[in-house]
Amino acid sequence: MTFTRKTANLIPIEDTVFAIVSLAKKDTAEHGPECVTDATIGSLYDESGRLVAYDSVFNHYDAIDHRVKASYAASFTGNPGFRTQVYNWVVQGVKLNLAHSVIATPGGSGAVSTAITTFLDEGQTLILPEIAWGSYKLMAAENNIKSENYEIFDGNQFNFSSLRETMEKVSKTQDRLVIVVNDPCQNPTGYSMNRQEWDNMIDLLNEYGNKMPVILIDDIAYIDYSNDLAHARDYMNSFNRISDNVMLTVAFSCSKTLTSYGLRCGAAVLMAKEQKDVREAEIVFEKSARATWSNIPNAAMENFTWVVTDNKDAFLREKQNYVNLMKQRSSIFLKEASECGLETYPYKEGFFVTLRIPDNQVRHAVHQEFINQHIYTVEVNHGIRVAVCSLPLCKVSGLAKKMKQIEDNVFSR
Ligand SMILES: Cc1ncc(COP(=O)(O)O)c(C=O)c1O
Repeated sequence: MTFTRKTANLIPIEDTVFAIVSLAKKDTAEHGPECVTDATIGSLYDESGRLVAYDSVFNHYDAIDHRVKASYAASFTGNPGFRTQVYNWVVQGVKLNLAHSVIATPGGSGAVSTAITTFLDEGQTLILPEIAWGSYKLMAAENNIKSENYEIFDGNQFNFSSLRETMEKVSKTQDRLVIVVNDPCQNPTGYSMNRQEWDNMIDLLNEYGNKMPVILIDDIAYIDYSNDLAHARDYMNSFNRISDNVMLTVAFSCSKTLTSYGLRCGAAVLMAKEQKDVREAEIVFEKSARATWSNIPNAAMENFTWVVTDNKDAFLREKQNYVNLMKQRSSIFLKEASECGLETYPYKEGFFVTLRIPDNQVRHAVHQEFINQHIYTVEVNHGIRVAVCSLPLCKVSGLAKKMKQIEDNVFSR
């Protein structure tokens, strides 16, 4: 007998990241920090190994009146000022001729998972990148939604033929297509599509839009860590070319943007040609919100609004230090990797670089050997993730060479 529902999956979440983080901590306690390279943690850490929490965000948050923190939000869809400022922040200078609505969500997770259940029925299939944040698949599975993967890369470019094949296959079994991309600054590869690739993406969505409704979920959790922030949103100009049968959900997260992972604040930005389509999705989102998290922390929303309006310059300056730092860390790693022939996926920017190891069994053996040599990383599908967001410069230098030697030893077994 079990008390949980019949369809519940009782296999515990295998939190591989958490397990490996603990191993690294234990090793550090036993052998000292000089001996250990911990490239597991997926949050922004400074050079002295401390979690970054921006002063330009948290000094004001600390000073917010207790009643503002205690209070419910103004609405299940979020506070009006927050909704307006999220839209402004997400699109910045880009002029979109689309109807839109913003729904406050608990982080980017809430935006992505609610988009999945808003647009797909149970038993239908979500289209996912095959190297991706593991939660997408879990979000689908928990809602009795299947998933089908497309290969992300064809050499060093986005693999449109694989995406097209996957869309074709899924379109034969259901009446709509829902596709996830995590661009720019993709987790875990650090890839960002260029303007041409975004144009190709919209062409493909429109092509299938001639047959059925097509929804693209663009997860932009890491967008504010692009190396070229002045142009990071330029690709959204391509959104203007969507047809009437294509809808977009841009999943925004304050977690990385404001270094406020624990405040659980983000938003879904719904966009379509027709206001009526946006309104329908908004109604479904609002009911999901009411039925699950109810409303988003009031003070978290108010603080975002204040930061991006009244403290924007100081915030951008503070954040830029870390964009620069990650660029330095990743450049050293990639330069050394290319010098010694360590293969990586085509990293452009963002929190993670991923080693390219197509065979998952070999990858597992390499990962294990890294651990034996006190190097801690995270296994992902067809690769090993190196978190440059948390790895100090002193640990980056020389790392690629060590990894390459270990890989060579494993490959030659
Ligand atoms: C690719 C990706 N999307 C979205 C998120 C959402 O994070 P949150 O729910 O904290 O906003 C994460 C967090 O790790 C992520 O890696």
